Amino acid sequence: MLKKIKEKLIQISNKELFKTLFSYSKGYRLKILYITILRAVNSLATIGVALLTKNIIDSAISKDLSSTYTLGAIVVVGLLLKLVLSKYTTVYSTKVSETMFNDLQHKTIKTFYNNQWLFMSQFKTGDLITRSSNDVSRITGILMGTFPTIVSLLVQLITAFVILSSYDQMIAFIAFILGPATVSISWVLGHKLKELQAVIQESISELNSYITESIQNMDLIQSFDIKEDALDKLKDLQDKKRNLVYKKAVFTAITKGIIDFGFTIGFLGATLLGAYKLYNGVISFGTFTAFSQLVSHIQSPIYGLSKTIPSIITVLSSVERVIVFNENSMESQNTAPELQQNELMSLQFEDVSFYYLKDNIILDQLNLSINIGDKIALIGTSGEGKTTILRLVMALLEPSSGAVKLNCISGSVPITSETRKYFSYVPQKNSLFSGSILDNLLLANKNASKEVIEKALQTACIYDFIMSLPNGVNTIVGERLGGLSEGQAQRICIARALVHNTPFLILDEATSALDTETEKCIVINISENYSKKTLIVVTHKTEILNYCNHIFKLDNKKTTKVR
Ligand SMILES: Nc1ncnc2c1ncn2[C@@H]1O[C@H](COP(=O)(O)OP(=O)(O)O)[C@@H](O)[C@H]1O
Ligand SMILES: [Mg+2]
Repeated sequence: MLKKIKEKLIQISNKELFKTLFSYSKGYRLKILYITILRAVNSLATIGVALLTKNIIDSAISKDLSSTYTLGAIVVVGLLLKLVLSKYTTVYSTKVSETMFNDLQHKTIKTFYNNQWLFMSQFKTGDLITRSSNDVSRITGILMGTFPTIVSLLVQLITAFVILSSYDQMIAFIAFILGPATVSISWVLGHKLKELQAVIQESISELNSYITESIQNMDLIQSFDIKEDALDKLKDLQDKKRNLVYKKAVFTAITKGIIDFGFTIGFLGATLLGAYKLYNGVISFGTFTAFSQLVSHIQSPIYGLSKTIPSIITVLSSVERVIVFNENSMESQNTAPELQQNELMSLQFEDVSFYYLKDNIILDQLNLSINIGDKIALIGTSGEGKTTILRLVMALLEPSSGAVKLNCISGSVPITSETRKYFSYVPQKNSLFSGSILDNLLLANKNASKEVIEKALQTACIYDFIMSLPNGVNTIVGERLGGLSEGQAQRICIARALVHNTPFLILDEATSALDTETEKCIVINISENYSKKTLIVVTHKTEILNYCNHIFKLDNKKTTKVR
């Protein structure tokens, strides 16, 4: 199954990627257009100032003082307006960019949740963080910054070219001649850079993943005394990224150097020709200064375009890294019929086989039926497939063959992402969020009453401990436990699952950090306080088995009912 998913990660054509990039601008197109217009007006104003300067110089040379002052005043007012306009554009586009970034990041993380668990389990945390922040930010930058820049550069280029041609076609031609060549070079350069950028993004992901994992396992690094090794590995990954970024910089510098050289020649040619015409009295001094400004107004947009085109192509590698979640294994969003708790009869596995990798079958034609209200234990050696069974129940995995279903009075309902609402799952690992104990409990059911919360905490044998804390349920806990022991954190997680109030409660070695006495106490409490709830507990402690009505043992890819 994993193989099937990996095969889907095929190359997507640049055309498709451009289409997707365009589709990301949905909802922002008018705003982008507005920013583009603001930028274009700014470009036109720059050319306007160049033309006015020409007239100021010409009228000053012809000693027409009143015109010089009037024109000078217009230039001052124009420059001030241009300044205000350009700052307003910056502020406005920052605001829109930030909104768009949030929106796109939100959508990307939503696709993480909506994809199949197995597909998502291939990605490291650091990689997903990089994709949903760094890559999304590059995409936003292109749509909000680069597209308006390109349009305003084109406006500047065309206007300056038309005006300069009306004065002198030859000079305009010399200034422009390098344009098409430059744009073609940067197009080719862009494609090479796209590949390099993809490798850079991957290397950033690898580095971030390593940093995330080594921070998460900081206690292990300290206790194994492998700080030096861990730092060496960090340095290797940093060096790898630095070398790639350096390679990109060298590649860009050489190509840009060639382009710059071409520009210098073009500028010199146009200026010398202008100077020659000035010397021969063909043009005025004012026209000559206008020429040199117009020449630079033709060259700088071409230069700007040659810089922005590669960035548009390189961003496609980021689109590729984000689109992968849209293109792949989205969960089917079928709506299961609403079931009343008293309608439920049993959870059934019917000839269920499952494999992650084709030649390694984990479950083989497994049959299992759990009646509502039962308290069952699922036992078996490590690696047999107990967690896999629970993932099938939670619809995190789909059976390779056979069916998992909920039997009700009115018929049976297949297990899908929609039936997850009937289950509360407590994994072995700590799953507390940063915040207070109360915040964590309310996460499962934001409307839970005080009584519901107290009952859950008492059942999970953690009430007395929490009450003994100075801040009670308002004590701050978090990812790194925040002063709790593993066992205390596990009990809060169990209480949270009880607050969730679903017909099924699944504890997947969720009591592993607890002593047998406490674990026994929790199982007994659940039987007494939540007699209608179906409990599936995966445990290695034999004493607990006495407090369950049925025991299933997973052995040799099948379950057998021990009791
Ligand atoms: N995401 C996965 N991809 C491939 N193989 C997996 C994956 N998760 C678990 N397995 C394999 O499936 C088998 C059963 O794992 P699991 O259900 O976690 O066992 P248990 O919970 O009984 O210890 C193991 O051999 C494990 O290597
Ligand atoms: Mg397990």
